[in-house]
Amino acid sequence: MIVIKHIDNMQQYIKERKHRDITIGFVPTMGYLHKGHASLLEKAREECDYVIASIFVNPLQFGPNEDYDQYPRDFERDKALVNTYGVDAIFVPNKDEMYPTESGCQLTVMRRTDVLCGKKRPGHFDGVVTVLTKLFHIIQPDRVYFGQKDAQQVAIVHDLIEAFNFPIELVACPTVREEDGLAKSSRNVNLSDAERKDAPRLYDQLLTARKAVLTGESVESVKKKLVYSLEGIEHGHLDYAEILSYPELKPIESLDQTIIIAIAYQFEKARLIDNIIIKKSEIDL
Ligand code: PAF
Repeated sequence: MIVIKHIDNMQQYIKERKHRDITIGFVPTMGYLHKGHASLLEKAREECDYVIASIFVNPLQFGPNEDYDQYPRDFERDKALVNTYGVDAIFVPNKDEMYPTESGCQLTVMRRTDVLCGKKRPGHFDGVVTVLTKLFHIIQPDRVYFGQKDAQQVAIVHDLIEAFNFPIELVACPTVREEDGLAKSSRNVNLSDAERKDAPRLYDQLLTARKAVLTGESVESVKKKLVYSLEGIEHGHLDYAEILSYPELKPIESLDQTIIIAIAYQFEKARLIDNIIIKKSEIDL
């Protein structure tokens, strides 16, 4: 496995391989890797000739009062993990490499950002699509792998790929969980012991909401109970709990479409998100 820090070296690496009939799989990350990332790397390894991961904590997608500085970082640990998954190259640019001057040009997401994390974190998805556009141009992947835990990100990256005609297939992989149901996240390391005990309740409540939806309870009633039970968690506070259409992310009144039940919960030093998607075919049964 090769570690590449500079954009021109990464471009050269791609140039030497891209002229052949090969597929490049790309797993963009912000590091502090966990089993969720590992599942993306495994899938990419299965499906592609070359697998490239990037590790870059992207300042553009963090708001002024968010956890950019506290975001966990451990490159040596990440490098060892990535190596065990047969990755061919990791791209680890620093901030000055990616954003050498204050950018004169940035992308704006026009759809699906007035809800969930887009509403709560203004500018977040503009930062995500801007860095991904740069990474897609540099790495020129054929397939890109994302975790479904970031379901809004997945929907928005679909739009990005379509809007800018990137010849890239987006592969969305299921959320990987701890044994007690907590979704794997780099931010889990910032939970206190007491918060870690509370955290699996997020998924428990999503499962309860899912069951209620499948037994025909109204969206309004399911949402009310979900909010009530999440507000009852001892530590931290609920940021949002929503039931929306997916991938459109529009409000719904009836359950005749694929939906997402999505939550964000703020613990002291870790904001966690999770969701469950219920396909129309499951609701119809
Ligand atoms: O999901 C993430 O870790 C980030 O949003 C991404 C896609 C690597 C862009 O910085």
